[in-house]
Amino acid sequence: MPSDGAFDALPSDGAFDALPSDGAFDAPTIIRTKRDGAALSDAAIDWVIDAYTHDRIAEAQMSALLMAIFLRGMTDAEIARWTAAMIASGDRFDFSDLRRNGRPLALVDKHSTGGVGDKITIPLVPVVMACGGAVPQAAGRGLGHTGGTLDKLEAIPGFTAELSKARIRQQLSEVGAAIFAAGDLAPADRKIYALRDITATTESLPLIASSVMSKKIAEGAGALVLDTKVGAGAFLKSEAEARALARTMVDLGAAHGVSTRALLTDMSVPLGRAVGNAVEVAESLEVLEGGGPADVVELTVTLAREMLDAAGLDAVDPAQTLRDGTAMDQFRRLVTAQGGDLGQPLPIGAHSETVTAPRGGTMGDIDAMAVGLAVWRLGAGRSEPGQRVQFGAGMTMHRRPGETVTAGEPVFTLYTDTPQRFAAALSELDGAWTVGDRPPPSRPLIIDRISE
Ligand code: URA
Repeated sequence: MPSDGAFDALPSDGAFDALPSDGAFDAPTIIRTKRDGAALSDAAIDWVIDAYTHDRIAEAQMSALLMAIFLRGMTDAEIARWTAAMIASGDRFDFSDLRRNGRPLALVDKHSTGGVGDKITIPLVPVVMACGGAVPQAAGRGLGHTGGTLDKLEAIPGFTAELSKARIRQQLSEVGAAIFAAGDLAPADRKIYALRDITATTESLPLIASSVMSKKIAEGAGALVLDTKVGAGAFLKSEAEARALARTMVDLGAAHGVSTRALLTDMSVPLGRAVGNAVEVAESLEVLEGGGPADVVELTVTLAREMLDAAGLDAVDPAQTLRDGTAMDQFRRLVTAQGGDLGQPLPIGAHSETVTAPRGGTMGDIDAMAVGLAVWRLGAGRSEPGQRVQFGAGMTMHRRPGETVTAGEPVFTLYTDTPQRFAAALSELDGAWTVGDRPPPSRPLIIDRISE
């Protein structure tokens, strides 16, 4: 595990002796070095990232190295170099020359470390646009049990996230935001991200920090707010691990000249009532219409305030943009600019299955991890690289923790186009929720804030 704090000097314990630093590298030696718990030299990291990006080492070798990193961790210095090498694997955007009404753009972005029902980017980006910010967002696809912003937005008929650099620049100055697949930004991350998803190497502090920050540093936002998730549905479950992750990412941002801060937020239970692809877009539209679940609204507004503060904007109250429809107007502009048609119905799974309450009482906690896995099993995520996701797959929670429920009432509805998936999805939910006599203990949604 890296230490909490600024990047330390590399240890001088002979850890680097195992590897030559003259360019004579090979994958088995690098894998063995990390497998045996030593640190990799800068030159070895540069070589392995470049070799993997350009297909000069095998998927099996990178898989083994990722598992060694997962098991052995990395020093702060290794994480910093691994991140820098991933940034150097592709383009680094610079939008500082762009102007709107003759003034430089207030460029700011946010990124989440991954959660269940975490659709926050969808209402957040238009809120920040409505408050005068400009958002260049390199977004991801689903990873493990967590959904991806791109898979959700592509559920809108016609929406495309494959934007050229010229189109991103044009959209930023004319519309105020662009949400795009990372493409030529940190291509090493694109490959490693997909490989982690299918090799059980996702839940690793060094790999999450470098994945998030390589894309975010390369995308050209001057300021960044990180939503670091804590709890059952997060990749790193404990508050101590999430805190260390947030500190590592904030320090990486600062080292690359991106003003970065992080919130620690609760991910023990899913966010909102909808988990999946199109169902999360539908819930985001409710939020943009001034309604929606209280937790989704609270997190959207809190993250918007952080982003506006980081960008030096304070003229407009973000909560007001949800009430007065200006954020919704911006969302329509953004979706239209990216080819989407909100006039067409969102897809919904052709088959549904309802889970009912076995007794009356108060809904207890709903395990976010179990819900994430259930929705993944319904077809909302991938089990092989490049697989198509089902846009209509997902789940609606009719009762949230703490709400009253009567015996026999529907508590969850599950949707999929492939009904043979129901059995596995339902078994993920077994034992993952309760109905009791008392409400579950209340937890703050926003746990802490970590700044440079
Ligand atoms: N988001 C990313 O971009 N990468 C991760 O590893 C986790 C969340």
